[in-house]
Amino acid sequence: MNAVDDKTEVREYFNATGFDRWKRIYGEGDDVNKVQMNIRIGHQQTIDHVVGWLTADGNLSEITICDAGCGVGSLSIPLAKAGAKSIAASDISEKMSDEGRERAIAELGASNPITFTAQDLETISGQYHTVICLDVMIHYPPEKAGEMTAHLSSLATDRLIISFAPKTWYYAILKKIGEFFPGPSKATRAYLHPESYVLKVLEENGWKLARNELTKRPFYFSRLLEVVKA
Ligand SMILES: C[S@@+](CC[C@H](N)C(=O)[O-])C[C@H]1O[C@@H](n2cnc3c(N)ncnc32)[C@H](O)[C@@H]1O
Repeated sequence: MNAVDDKTEVREYFNATGFDRWKRIYGEGDDVNKVQMNIRIGHQQTIDHVVGWLTADGNLSEITICDAGCGVGSLSIPLAKAGAKSIAASDISEKMSDEGRERAIAELGASNPITFTAQDLETISGQYHTVICLDVMIHYPPEKAGEMTAHLSSLATDRLIISFAPKTWYYAILKKIGEFFPGPSKATRAYLHPESYVLKVLEENGWKLARNELTKRPFYFSRLLEVVKA
């Protein structure tokens, strides 16, 4: 199946059952099961790392940020609370980006620095100091991940922050087990990516590694990379 089919599947999923599921996971209610709670906690750790990095740099109020595949605003909203000047947040799912806008208005008021749009990240244009793309690459097959990374690179003047599920023998086995016992909530294909491959693509696009983290929880694992101009 090709990437167009993957994208259609992802868009439809996150506009329907995926929206309901992920809205709860990326929320605060107790309407989640054990697996979903682990994903929520792990994902929050990834968010906390990014907010920590950007806050520590001390220039949040001066830089422009693109949050590509923003979901319900789990990153954009805390970045705005931490003083970010301007955030362009977009998601291929209209339901997710609409939910993000509503959450931002509820938490920050109508006049806040985040602009939410429904958009495929590969059609984003413009230039941003920092481009961030968290936990989206899992929806990209390996042969398309390079193109997606190159496009995100073309939007960033100073820095790219990206996270993905790393492909190691251990996680590959876990994923296989998951495929044998998919459970009712598994609805999109998930792709793991070798860290060496992602780093190679980033280097080919003129980046060098600045900071990195690995978040590990049961059912959630995510390698987070910050790269800056080489
Ligand atoms: C696991 S969620 C992560 C959301 C958000 N980045 C976060 O960390 O809270 C993945 C999101 O990626 C979005 N997505 C997947 N493929 C995309 C694409 N090609 N362009 C834009 N968004 C995409 C999905 O709609 C979904 O909201």
